[in-house]
Amino acid sequence: MPENTTYITTPIYYVNDKPHIGHVYSTTVCDVWARFMRFAGRDVFFLTGTDEHGVKVEKSAKERGIEPQELADENAAIFESVIGSFELTNDDFIRTTHDYHVRQVQKFVEKLLAVDAVYLGEFEGWYDEGQEEYHTETKAREFDYKSPINGKPFVRAREKNYYFRLSAFQQRLEEFFEQQRGFIRPDARRNEVLGRLREGLQDVPISRTNFSWGIPMPNDPEHVIYVWIEALMNYATALGMAEPDSDRFAQRAKYWPADYHIIGKEILWFHAVIWPAVLMALELPLPKCIYAHSFWISEGQKMSKTLGNFIDLKTIEEFVNTYGLDTWRYYLLTQGPLGATDADLSAAHFHEIYNTDLVNTVGNCASRVTAMINKYYDGVVPNESPSDNRLEIADYGWPTLTREAASISIEAMERFDIPGSVAAALGLVRKVDGFINKTEPFKLAKDETRRDELGAILYQCLEAVRIASVLLWGVMPSKMSELWEALALPIDPAEGNLLDLTAWGGIHPGLKVQKVALFPRVERKEEVAAK
Ligand code: MSP
Repeated sequence: MPENTTYITTPIYYVNDKPHIGHVYSTTVCDVWARFMRFAGRDVFFLTGTDEHGVKVEKSAKERGIEPQELADENAAIFESVIGSFELTNDDFIRTTHDYHVRQVQKFVEKLLAVDAVYLGEFEGWYDEGQEEYHTETKAREFDYKSPINGKPFVRAREKNYYFRLSAFQQRLEEFFEQQRGFIRPDARRNEVLGRLREGLQDVPISRTNFSWGIPMPNDPEHVIYVWIEALMNYATALGMAEPDSDRFAQRAKYWPADYHIIGKEILWFHAVIWPAVLMALELPLPKCIYAHSFWISEGQKMSKTLGNFIDLKTIEEFVNTYGLDTWRYYLLTQGPLGATDADLSAAHFHEIYNTDLVNTVGNCASRVTAMINKYYDGVVPNESPSDNRLEIADYGWPTLTREAASISIEAMERFDIPGSVAAALGLVRKVDGFINKTEPFKLAKDETRRDELGAILYQCLEAVRIASVLLWGVMPSKMSELWEALALPIDPAEGNLLDLTAWGGIHPGLKVQKVALFPRVERKEEVAAK
């Protein structure tokens, strides 16, 4: 069933840096999507990994007096350990120093040479040394000839290099962006790319001779392949697209092309323009969407080591230790920069969201409902319909309400609107709270003659909470599993039955449920910069 397969990727992270919130965020948003889609029955391949070549890695290694490979091994291990500590469910972790990546990149470049998409030429331009990136005259002027990332002046550089004939793809790219309007998201990012595209495309150098830590050009080993070109290829080499017959990859080509390449906004051009052009030249199908999220800032300011507000692994751990991993995920996903604007992580806001959404909404509702079932029914789930005298609850057609919320939530997740998906589930929980306040089961409980109504109300509350929990599992897997355990529900997301589980009537009367306390109140964590 090829339509059932789906492929999602994170950027591969530079090993000359240590992981921070940006890396954790990109990987976590992919993880939530991957978990949700597997639960929904899709055959998901979720890829992340490390980008290990290039002059920066070579330089840092030299400074420390070690080989670049040693530095790469050391830092790749730190990035890989993030996977375990954040319970991320990637299907593979690619490292660009793996021999299968190196081999396949060379095969791809051979093909690019063979179809004349790559040629040897000379180039002069404005070079951002930190970013290892050339800029056009217009762009360089716009940036005042200084790196927008680290402020260092651009240098005028001239090189004999291999070039990728990007200019030849101008028209095809324009047509493609026109046809596939959702290719670059969000829209604001699409407009940026289209604007820059209108300035006209120039060929881009794809090889370097001023350092050696890279993959040699297959035809000319004096040159190493520019790190950006080979890094992009990771998305294809991980699936064995240049070696589809090898044992390692026989089962993977079916995932191509990616549904979502999730990236940060600073690396959009490479993904949205250069990558599709390279794939066109390689005659491979193009990805469906490049989704560029914005940036996290910290306590209202850009993250910086000197300000002490850098959200590194240690800072993240403090949040996780105080509030739990699922709360961390919830905050990242619902408050994060998935849209076109940056998002601020502040300890005060984190605490507020924890209280309003998790303690007072999800936790409180689940605990209220399970506590009442325990108090009035010894924990045994009552019948849904009273035998007579049906309660006036017409405003709350729960089977319809839950069906609608589930379909909004699932549809939002398909579109990578994770906050929208969560909001639909949370909206359901809020409705349960409103329903309890309106029907006042605690008052009915005092009247023996209205026991059927009481049972009906509590059944409906519990069932709506259960459906919300299924929709929230992707974001908060541990807490929702904890809830299912208390409700004696043998749900296993690996079965891929999310849709069935969102149907009304999944909880059977007679089941014994325990009282739950999912999100305890906690003391507020101090501000990130206040350490
Ligand atoms: N190696 C390249 C990507 C190659 S992909 C073929 C690279 N690596 S990186 O280590 O610098 O990681 C960049 C990614 O980290 C960004 O795309 C983004 O996902 C994430 N972030 C880095 N800083 C960030 C924030 N402050 N906030 C959110 N994410 C940001 O670029």
